[in-house]
Amino acid sequence: MRKGLHVAIIMDGNGRWATWRGLPRMAGHRAGVAAVRRVVEHAPALGIRWLTLYAFSSDNWRRPADEVESIFWLMRAYLRLETGRLRQHGARLEIIGRRDRLPNLLLREIGHAENATAEGSRLHLRIAIDYSSRDTITRAVARATNALPPDQPPSADVLGRMLAQALTAESGEVDLLIRTGGEKRLSDFLLWESAYAELLFTDRMWPDFDATDLDAALAEFNRRERRFGGVPVATAHSVESAR
Ligand code: FPP
Repeated sequence: MRKGLHVAIIMDGNGRWATWRGLPRMAGHRAGVAAVRRVVEHAPALGIRWLTLYAFSSDNWRRPADEVESIFWLMRAYLRLETGRLRQHGARLEIIGRRDRLPNLLLREIGHAENATAEGSRLHLRIAIDYSSRDTITRAVARATNALPPDQPPSADVLGRMLAQALTAESGEVDLLIRTGGEKRLSDFLLWESAYAELLFTDRMWPDFDATDLDAALAEFNRRERRFGGVPVATAHSVESAR
């Protein structure tokens, strides 16, 4: 069984954080990078083994070109400056999402950071760039159905197992999904993997999110009762004894 929690975060609120301070939106993204560092470095102490951060959704291409370009520039800088620190902290970095539309310079930095951190075993850090859950699922379905003989339509059961294998085999399902910035939606993030995730929405803007907020989120997660469609443990016992 997979050991450790899988926490996923929709890092929202950078733009508003900056605007409220009379700063350009990029200042919010820059402050967001510092929050990424805080969370990455604190996560293992809380038993988090998998951390998936939503940095750029496939729908974010709709933003003004100069903001998109600056976000990619910031990601490159993060990867270049942070790889050594990630290694020191035993983090293994993986980028998820489409790569075919990313700028070459960013791709080069991604390749270097992934190779340099490949041995990390304390934390598996996944950063989602040009990511869309629907797109990922659609591609996994296409791959799964292509792998079957053409005259054998897959049963829902077989297809389900193949998809689970493709989407959650390594990372496992998401245990806790956090969204900062006050909005309450999933925005095409890890839809399959979050089928039974506990959802936590906070008004905290991402640049303000810190270790204390992550502690509070985990404390809330630990108070939740996860039933996965079953009944509470105490109820299950009383059903057993009534038989
Ligand atoms: C959402 O806030 C944030 C983003 C689309 C970009 C997130 C990017 C970073 C945190 C920096 C780079 C990331 C890494 C991993 C190095 P928003 O702009 O939608 O905020 P708003 O809703 O207040 O406008």
